[in-house]
Amino acid sequence: MTILPRIAALALLFAASVVPPALADEHTPNPPRQRWSFAGIFGHYDRAQLQRGFKVYRDVCQACHHLNIPFRTLSQPGGPQFSAAQVAALAAEYKVQDGPNDSGDMFERPARPADRIPWTFPNENAAASANGGKAPPSLQLMAKARGFERGFPWFIIDTLPGFVYQEHGPDYIHALMTGYQDAPAGVSVPEGGHYNKYFPGNIIAMPNPLSDGQVEFPKGPDGKPPVPETVDQYATDLAAFLMWAAEPNLEERKRTGFMVMIFLAVFAYGMYRAKKIVWSKVKAAGAHA
Ligand code: HEC
Repeated sequence: MTILPRIAALALLFAASVVPPALADEHTPNPPRQRWSFAGIFGHYDRAQLQRGFKVYRDVCQACHHLNIPFRTLSQPGGPQFSAAQVAALAAEYKVQDGPNDSGDMFERPARPADRIPWTFPNENAAASANGGKAPPSLQLMAKARGFERGFPWFIIDTLPGFVYQEHGPDYIHALMTGYQDAPAGVSVPEGGHYNKYFPGNIIAMPNPLSDGQVEFPKGPDGKPPVPETVDQYATDLAAFLMWAAEPNLEERKRTGFMVMIFLAVFAYGMYRAKKIVWSKVKAAGAHA
């Protein structure tokens, strides 16, 4: 293959990698990009932000959605890193069903850190009937489900700074939370529906969940919360928290990707040197002949 088709093929691959996922239709603009601490090659989660995000989830979203993760993951490294005692106290506030006991009956007990965070609804049908026929989906993988997954070798290449953008999922969640507005003239919103600029099709069954000042954040040393208690901030912290829920090992993955890149660079250089040494002898022999 000559060099031109190769360059063309590479350019095509690159173009395919940077095209945003097909979220938007003609009425739903692409979610605006936000700044995320977990973007880029040295991306990492901001612990305080994940803790605030969890608080918003717990105070607001949990009334309808579920997350399906065990409580104890909230204290694991790489996540919000609540203390084990905080997680145990948190779990004890919830009730889960257990059993059967010796007489064959199911019973309720306070949750333990190993239990999954229970859902308000006993099942999908109950959730759907309480929400106008649409069950609120699990938010565990939402930040990824509305973004896009990329396999080998892209997950290595994606760690290169500025190369490919991976944060469409959290951008979408942030946009969805801040995208409620009055329907434009001429658009009728059916009973039980709500107009959202960024929801594909614009009519969503979820009522606007957030309003300014709704969730109290822990106060800093000066007696004020370290960040504003606004919808925009709630949406940002929530999206970061949901990103962690969907990808708890992101920090480790990025570290590994970085090490792989260094290894490949050193290896390539070594091969280049080896080639030079081997072929220099061949050439020298040729010159004498
Ligand atoms: C009153 C119940 C209720 C509350 C509270 C609520 N949701 Fe929802 N949510 C729903 C329902 C119902 C749907 C399904 C909407 C649909 O498909 O039209 C939904 C869908 C979603 C979706 C999926 C949108 C998509 O692209 O399919 C996301 C993301 C979401 N909710 C996030 C949140 C977050 C974050 C919170 C907390 C700030 C929250 N929700 C609070 C009921 C709720």
